[in-house]
Amino acid sequence: MSKVIKGGTIVTADRQFAGDILIEDGKIAAIGDNLTGDEVIDAEGAYVIPGGIDPHTHLEMPFMGTTADETFESGTWAAATGGTTMLVDFCLPGPDGSIKNAINDWHRKSAPQICSDIGYHMAITGWNESIFNEMKDAVDMGVNSFKHFMAYKGALMVEDDEMYASFSRCKELGALPMVHAENGDIIQELQQKYLAEGITGPEGHAFSRPPELEGEAANRAIMIADAVGTPLYIVHVSCEQAHEAIRRARQKGHRVYGEPLIQFLTLDESEYFNKSWEHAARRVMSPPFRSKAHQDGLWAGLSAGSLQVVATDHCAFGTEKKKMGLNDFTQIPNGTGGLEDRLAVLWTTGVETGRITPEEFVAVTSTNIAKILNIYPQKGALVPGADADIVVWDPKISKTISANSQKSIIDYNVFEGFEVTAQARHTLSRGDVIWSWGKNSAPQPGRGRFVPRPAFSSAGTALSRWKALNTPRKVERDPMNIPSGI
Ligand code: URP
Ligand code: ZN
Ligand code: ZN
Ligand code: ZN
Repeated sequence: MSKVIKGGTIVTADRQFAGDILIEDGKIAAIGDNLTGDEVIDAEGAYVIPGGIDPHTHLEMPFMGTTADETFESGTWAAATGGTTMLVDFCLPGPDGSIKNAINDWHRKSAPQICSDIGYHMAITGWNESIFNEMKDAVDMGVNSFKHFMAYKGALMVEDDEMYASFSRCKELGALPMVHAENGDIIQELQQKYLAEGITGPEGHAFSRPPELEGEAANRAIMIADAVGTPLYIVHVSCEQAHEAIRRARQKGHRVYGEPLIQFLTLDESEYFNKSWEHAARRVMSPPFRSKAHQDGLWAGLSAGSLQVVATDHCAFGTEKKKMGLNDFTQIPNGTGGLEDRLAVLWTTGVETGRITPEEFVAVTSTNIAKILNIYPQKGALVPGADADIVVWDPKISKTISANSQKSIIDYNVFEGFEVTAQARHTLSRGDVIWSWGKNSAPQPGRGRFVPRPAFSSAGTALSRWKALNTPRKVERDPMNIPSGI
């Protein structure tokens, strides 16, 4: 059965034009005028855009002594209702440290639940010969990006020589290294200092993670990537110091990518001060929300092209779990949410205000990340042959965001009360209409698929012998138990 999306304005990362899209067998078969199909999907008065890709989520992830509450089902469903048709989730090795087992574990959890498509990044949380070897297995299993935590000391943090070795291995395998850029050593010092001064509430989280520590780590990671000769992707860029490092590297011709979050673009540090404990704790994430000046810088980066992707870092813990840190901010599970609202909030605060164009909106929510992660044009593109992950985006449906009406299973929403001016009229995943505004669409767990991402053709030779480290790490790290005060 063919379908045709009729009467809309097609928006790609390059241009807008009136046209119809014919869909056959889950793929775009043709784009043109007056196309016909067995079923008509009405796009009159709406934009037709590639489905959003959120490249940064943590669904059901074990972290800080607990597990993120958003499930693969609720997460992919909430995302789809908001116009996002693919998530790239972070796999974290379990206590056995095995990368291969982590990927299989993520498949076991996600496959029966996902309502739309998913990919994975892999976290590198230590360094030894089996990690070196299993990175190749990960790439063969369709995972071509590896995240390195420069924070969460004693749990997930890697040292500089470990990063150098792992980045080198990425280069050799044609994989993309990513970093969580914050200086974990100094953060630990500052946490101890503020706790000792009796600052135990969520504001201590913001105090102990100043933007300089993010800028320092971003610069360091960029220089290490330069020394190796590899591209680098910096996740959750929150501040001008990190943005400046990215901008400078790009001006010199280095392929460094920066990912601000929709939360960082719209919410600021005032969320932590003079608010109830619950309000502030629900917004505790790393890095923390910054001042308005940093926000302006991030917006400028999106329109100037020095920042390429808007993500959510959706890592949502319900209020009960946040209370683990009631008497000590270092014990509040880190993470916020946003995958359901990313597109609508960015449209309202970005396109409606004239800060970014509709084409830039498509670029930063879908097309750029598909290119960066090597799944373009299967994803992120409206061209014949691409997966028909398409959203009929209606700029005339407004709504007030509220936890009471959201699809996410979390008991709050950091955008509570926001008025958004656009919504997904229809969301299509590989040609299936999985969501229609105002109809009683129901989640279809298990219909989503894992999308393998091939290695980059730019794989090169690199000095990546794991033994190149003179002092292989014997530090015990336990991702489930970030020790008290760290
Ligand atoms: O606070 C955050 N960002 N939690 C999720 C884990 C991470 O660092 O991305
Ligand atoms: Zn319709
Ligand atoms: Zn992170
Ligand atoms: Zn994250």
